[in-house]
Amino acid sequence: MAPSYTMAGGNGPNSYSQHSTYQRALLEVAKERINEAISTKLETISSESNRFNIADFGCSTGPNTFLAVQNLIDAVEQKYRNETQQNPDDNIEFQVLFNDNSNNDFNTLFKTLPPTKKYFVAGVPGSFFGRVLPRDSLHVGHCSYSLHWLSQVPKGVADRNSPAWNKDIHCTGFSKEVAETYLDQFKIDMGSFLKARGEELVSGGLLFLLGSCLPDGVKMSETMKGMLLDFMGTCLHDVAKEGLIDQEELDSLNFPIYPAHVVEFKSVIKDNGCFTIEAFEKISHANEEMPLDPEFLATSNKVTFGGVLESRFGKEAMERTMELIEEKCPEIIPQLANAKSGMQYFIMLRRN
Ligand SMILES: C[S@@+](CC[C@H](N)C(=O)[O-])C[C@H]1O[C@@H](n2cnc3c(N)ncnc32)[C@H](O)[C@@H]1O
Repeated sequence: MAPSYTMAGGNGPNSYSQHSTYQRALLEVAKERINEAISTKLETISSESNRFNIADFGCSTGPNTFLAVQNLIDAVEQKYRNETQQNPDDNIEFQVLFNDNSNNDFNTLFKTLPPTKKYFVAGVPGSFFGRVLPRDSLHVGHCSYSLHWLSQVPKGVADRNSPAWNKDIHCTGFSKEVAETYLDQFKIDMGSFLKARGEELVSGGLLFLLGSCLPDGVKMSETMKGMLLDFMGTCLHDVAKEGLIDQEELDSLNFPIYPAHVVEFKSVIKDNGCFTIEAFEKISHANEEMPLDPEFLATSNKVTFGGVLESRFGKEAMERTMELIEEKCPEIIPQLANAKSGMQYFIMLRRN
């Protein structure tokens, strides 16, 4: 089984739950569009069953996932009130299914559930690239900032003898072979994600996808996020020179992340055929420009990549890399000023 990469668990200063305001900002700004989408695109809420199922795929530990599901519930309740003039509390029971890889810190998620929540909860561990819910059981699905994670490092990119061998730690966009290999893996994974959701969602059900992708024609390493990943690669090489990381081992390090281009994303959705694209929009949020604060950047890297680096190279090497990121960050700030913009997306799909 390919290793799964989860965010830092717990509630401490270096945890995802304390360090995810960047992602949260997109959920906040998407609330209005979700309200409008549910009001106009969700088919009349069924009177045959009073249960309404919502799932958040790639939920991590919270609190962002709680905001995401509450936004969906508020929108469904509002629609119900408008259509029936009845109180949804008397008539709809919400069941929320929190999905993430099984090594996600579900304990923190369950311990920090909002005390005032008015929904039933279940954890659904397992990769969202496969089925995690029964057929025709889901009314609305949601997935934010998760689909740039691939199911595995694409074949060949970590192999020095392959034409697709990647000397960088991610898909920078500058090597054609590496980019093609990453794209092939994205097509497989996104295709599997859509196939599984297509089976789980009821006909007319909605799927909201939010996160970061690349505008067509822009290479990852031309964006701020890509430059920061390249910078982490440089710091890892410095740590290898200091002797804390084996150089060969570092040469084979590749992160299974691929922020797709808009055209690639749309094409996989069309090929799947189960969904109508109701919206595919660029959406901006207040935190889009990451603060160029050395401590913030080091913590962001630690929260997202610290676990992988520690398991690969050991705690000392991981800590030293984060120290160097913080120390050397001012060196790359002028370069970041010339970064091209990436793109935050808001996608709404309706199950045919
Ligand atoms: C950056 S976090 C996003 C968390 C939350 N959705 C948000 O917007 O703040 C990405 C999450 O996706 C999860 N993830 C990545 N690949 C996954 C997979 N194949 N199946 C389920 N979850 C996955 C990770 O474990 C992580 O919790």
